[in-house]
Amino acid sequence: MASKLSTRGGAVVIVGFMGAGKTSAARALASARGRAAIDSDRLIEQRVGRTVADFFERDGEAAFRAVEEQVVCELLDAAEGDDVISLGGGAVTSKRVRRSLRRHVVVWLDVDPAVAWRRSGGGKRPLSRERRAFHALHSERLPIYESVADAIVPATSRQTLAIAYPALATLRDAPAGTRMLWAVSASGDYPVWVGRGLVGAGIWPVERPPSRRFLVSDENVAARWAARLGELDGQLAIRPGEASKTLASATAIWQAMVAERITRSDHVVALGGGVVGDLAGFCAATYQRGIPVVQVPTTLVAQVDSAYGGKTGVDLLEAKNYVGAFHQPAGVLVDPGTLDTLPAPELSAGYAEVLKTALIAGGTLWERVAADAPIDEQLILDCIRCKLAVVAADERDGGVRQVLNLGHTVGHAIEVAAGYGRYRHGEAVALGLLVALRLSGQEELRGRVARLLDAHGLPTHASGLDIEAVLAATQLDKKRGPGGVPMVLVDEPGRVRHGAAVEDRDLEQAVLEVVA
Ligand SMILES: NC(=O)c1ccc[n+]([C@@H]2O[C@H](COP(=O)([O-])OP(=O)(O)OC[C@H]3O[C@@H](n4cnc5c(N)ncnc54)[C@H](O)[C@@H]3O)[C@@H](O)[C@H]2O)c1
Repeated sequence: MASKLSTRGGAVVIVGFMGAGKTSAARALASARGRAAIDSDRLIEQRVGRTVADFFERDGEAAFRAVEEQVVCELLDAAEGDDVISLGGGAVTSKRVRRSLRRHVVVWLDVDPAVAWRRSGGGKRPLSRERRAFHALHSERLPIYESVADAIVPATSRQTLAIAYPALATLRDAPAGTRMLWAVSASGDYPVWVGRGLVGAGIWPVERPPSRRFLVSDENVAARWAARLGELDGQLAIRPGEASKTLASATAIWQAMVAERITRSDHVVALGGGVVGDLAGFCAATYQRGIPVVQVPTTLVAQVDSAYGGKTGVDLLEAKNYVGAFHQPAGVLVDPGTLDTLPAPELSAGYAEVLKTALIAGGTLWERVAADAPIDEQLILDCIRCKLAVVAADERDGGVRQVLNLGHTVGHAIEVAAGYGRYRHGEAVALGLLVALRLSGQEELRGRVARLLDAHGLPTHASGLDIEAVLAATQLDKKRGPGGVPMVLVDEPGRVRHGAAVEDRDLEQAVLEVVA
């Protein structure tokens, strides 16, 4: 089933909080498409013959909302496919407006409340005079914006929406319920589509032809999902598993690409879990000094974490992910339907990354994960949003991005010490999380996390590992500096610190506790 843009010819409607820049983003988008934007507040002002601020002030909020509802519903009910409309921040609080939005493509221009306050706080607008109330209103509105949004675009620049438009427009061919997130990073922006049935739906971030596509997958995934992608211009399926994330595999892929005459105008498709995504991304980053890669993640690890952010690379025998490059994808297609064929232990492994993300995000994501909410499309989407926000703030891992390494310093060391493959990446991260929580002095939280891991079939203890080998591999962590290996520690869910100094003795004890 196609989504609403094609079936109903819906307009692009921009919603979001005060200060998100909806009016100027709508203008930039409309003018790029040779049209004039429509602003609901201007229509209200024409209708009542006064400014919105004056009307709101003198007649009160209830009177304003009644007129707003009427004007906005008339506007939405008459709107057509080419229209670009921006709505006042509170318009979506009306049920009737939300009903009228259903046939349109709704873009939530998501603004950080501190930025919104800087832009519009303390000013003329009636609801933006007092900082605390402003922040409270922002929190109250978030779930409403989210519930109506087909696309979430960060309010970083007034041009972002115009740049994102081609990807936004592909929602017209997407399966019903597909949502799009716009990923922003210093080296480039890209779309992330999330929806069941996306693999094979024809949505693609790179125009082809002319761009030809070379598929990298693994044997398990290729057998189940590659045919859905349709025509390919070359492919190579590696043997499944971490042991294939090597320079030898990369060489085989590069050579197969040469054999298919893949050039810089072509692109790589990474269809699989984190191993395929990291390896194929690395091959794309380096082949002819870099060609685009489209990530199509098929494991929970890859869908909530590894497919975004542009970290690509291979392992060395001595240390994990030691050779690589930053290479943001041209786009990511997340089809939760692919998880239907994922073996249960792999789904469990992915749960460790969900738990890590929830600890970093805190708030409602942590509350839901702590209450053992089901792993569904919404949970995947929320984990992606957390990762994209962190990467947007620090693409190159120079600061805040290091929080994503929570549980990974020791997790990676366990993978290396076990010779790759004995513990799945997610299983090693599960153990690493327990070490990090012990070092954080979070007794109760550690117990809670251990129970969740256990309930999801993840290990809370590992046997038969050489403790010295684990500690030695920990010392090879890429973030090691003159002061030792900096750890990521948790003060509470939502408050995670990176670069924390830890005594060797404490680290050893915390590792011994899970590895003895
Ligand atoms: N780049 C990053 O930011 C980042 C983040 C987290 C993890 N990683 C990396 O990700 C890797 C782990 O990824 P992973 O856990 O996805 O492992 P994986 O890629 O090895 O996949 C796990 C197994 O599931 C199979 N599989 C995948 N999708 C399937 C499907 N839909 N149906 C049936 N079988 C399927 C694979 O063949 C494999 O056997 C590690 O190398 C880790 O370093 C990278």
